[in-house]
Amino acid sequence: MATAPVVVKVDLPETPYEIVIQPGLLDQFSLPEGFAIRYPRAVFITDDHVGKLWLAKLKRRLKKTIAQVDSIVVPHGERAKSVEVANSIWQRLLTFNADRHTLIIALGGGVIGDLAGFVAATYMRGLDFVQVPTTLLAQVDSSVGGKVGVNLPQGKNLVGAFWQPKSVLIDPAVLSTLSDREYRAGLAEVIKYGVILDENFFTELEKNVIGLVARNVDVMQHVVARCCEIKGTIVVADERETSGRRALLNFGHTFGHALEQVTGYSKILHGEAVAIGMCSAMRLAVNLKMIDDDLKARVEDLLVILGLPTKFPKIPADQILAAMQNDKKKGAAGVQLVLPSKLGSGKLVPWPGDDAVKNVL
Ligand SMILES: NC(=O)c1ccc[n+]([C@@H]2O[C@H](COP(=O)([O-])OP(=O)(O)OC[C@H]3O[C@@H](n4cnc5c(N)ncnc54)[C@H](O)[C@@H]3O)[C@@H](O)[C@H]2O)c1
Repeated sequence: MATAPVVVKVDLPETPYEIVIQPGLLDQFSLPEGFAIRYPRAVFITDDHVGKLWLAKLKRRLKKTIAQVDSIVVPHGERAKSVEVANSIWQRLLTFNADRHTLIIALGGGVIGDLAGFVAATYMRGLDFVQVPTTLLAQVDSSVGGKVGVNLPQGKNLVGAFWQPKSVLIDPAVLSTLSDREYRAGLAEVIKYGVILDENFFTELEKNVIGLVARNVDVMQHVVARCCEIKGTIVVADERETSGRRALLNFGHTFGHALEQVTGYSKILHGEAVAIGMCSAMRLAVNLKMIDDDLKARVEDLLVILGLPTKFPKIPADQILAAMQNDKKKGAAGVQLVLPSKLGSGKLVPWPGDDAVKNVL
């Protein structure tokens, strides 16, 4: 591995862990120091796409240090994030004699991270687990912070836990096999961090468009590390989303989730919905005189250059509005929206009224 690792610490008081970001990390895969002694058994959980690419290689490497290494491969896609698939994994773990000393390794995108993390949180009242995220969305967002869970037919992420990984191992080089669409969708979450939490980072992204589009591993190592740092800091400040700080990460998400919901979670990827949601939130912030039009245009320009959508498809505004008002993150004060107050900072604002929201859909 030519490039040195970047290590980001998530300093949670009871469950601290390190995120290691290094191009080529999967080629030389090994667990952090001490893990091979702590865990005599390990089980990879992955999906069929990712499994084909790396599972055999990673198992071979891990078997050099861990006595028993097993694997469970589930079908790719959101539908695997279900109680039924979780149950099938619990059953397989029993056949492997997995016990409290078994380490779960989640190898894949956000679906696998959430599902394997949920299985780890629940099997025998909790096993340790490591995240090895392979999509951009998972590397910059879902693998950090400990939210794990599955969907119910009634909605997404309705059953789950806060269960922090013991380590997160990230290889930005694996992004090269990701489809263009999935990769771009991950970039929406990257831009989100800049707009709502870090002005300098946003400016860097603007300067690095060529490297971002080319998936340059050095650029991506830096970008992924900065996103993990930002998310890690927020998670340490507000692990369980109680103080409002972690809620800032929902910038663009109240609009985005509504769009995903009304389109049946099939036509629009999460990151695409977030890109559209961020643009609506920016338009609303302009209308509420919180930011000027130039900032909105600047963010839209970056999204467009990176191939992301900025406008809602033609869907009746009332449907979107109804879905927004059912947002599961609605608190006692009703639905709140995260809006930017200037580049790099934002705040939670009360629902500004149906007409104000309809105007920006
Ligand atoms: N826990 C959290 O904090 C959090 C945050 C955001 C999103 N999520 C969840 O993440 C999920 C979405 O995750 P996602 O966007 O990573 O989707 P995903 O896990 O479905 O992965 C997308 C597709 O890419 C494939 N893939 C993964 N890595 C690849 C690679 N390197 N090369 C080629 N193909 C690869 C997968 O097999 C899959 O087909 C949703 O369920 C969402 O709810 C969780």
